[in-house]
Amino acid sequence: MIERLPSIHDALPRGAARPVSRRSVAIAGGSVAVASVLAACAGNAPGDDGGVDAATGGPGEDATAGGAAGGEVLATVSLAEVPVRGGLIVSEVPLVVTQPTEGDVRAFSGVCTHQGCAVASVSSRGVMCPCHSSLFDLADGSPIGGPATEPLRALSADVSGDSVTVTLAG
Ligand code: FES
Repeated sequence: MIERLPSIHDALPRGAARPVSRRSVAIAGGSVAVASVLAACAGNAPGDDGGVDAATGGPGEDATAGGAAGGEVLATVSLAEVPVRGGLIVSEVPLVVTQPTEGDVRAFSGVCTHQGCAVASVSSRGVMCPCHSSLFDLADGSPIGGPATEPLRALSADVSGDSVTVTLAG
């Protein structure tokens, strides 16, 4: 049995604003920085629901509740690590940064909307979940194959020079 991973959804505030530290940790030689929102995830045991709606992926409902979650930095990656017609998975969050066409950078939650597994690979075909082979579109995260019926949760991806900063949408 595959355990559902804690996710960025688990770290989202419920209702009123909840302060989240902006400390960050350099990973893999500094090419990827992941925000301390991870620390909020660390307390969640695998299998702990934590309020995540694995059936829907929960785009919107938690992040927009109270409007407090927008702008929190989840990760910073190098644009050079995000291939055109492909993407980069930041498994520590988890999230995925894609570049469906050159210069068009997108970001999505890496939590599959089928049953909550972490997506594991990206190709020109899309973002793949290894658990039951759902495939999600690089451009909008919509399901294009497999059992998932809801899109990956959209995040904000802001490009500045060679740096892509991913934040909660909203
Ligand atoms: S959990 Fe991703 S396809 Fe089933």
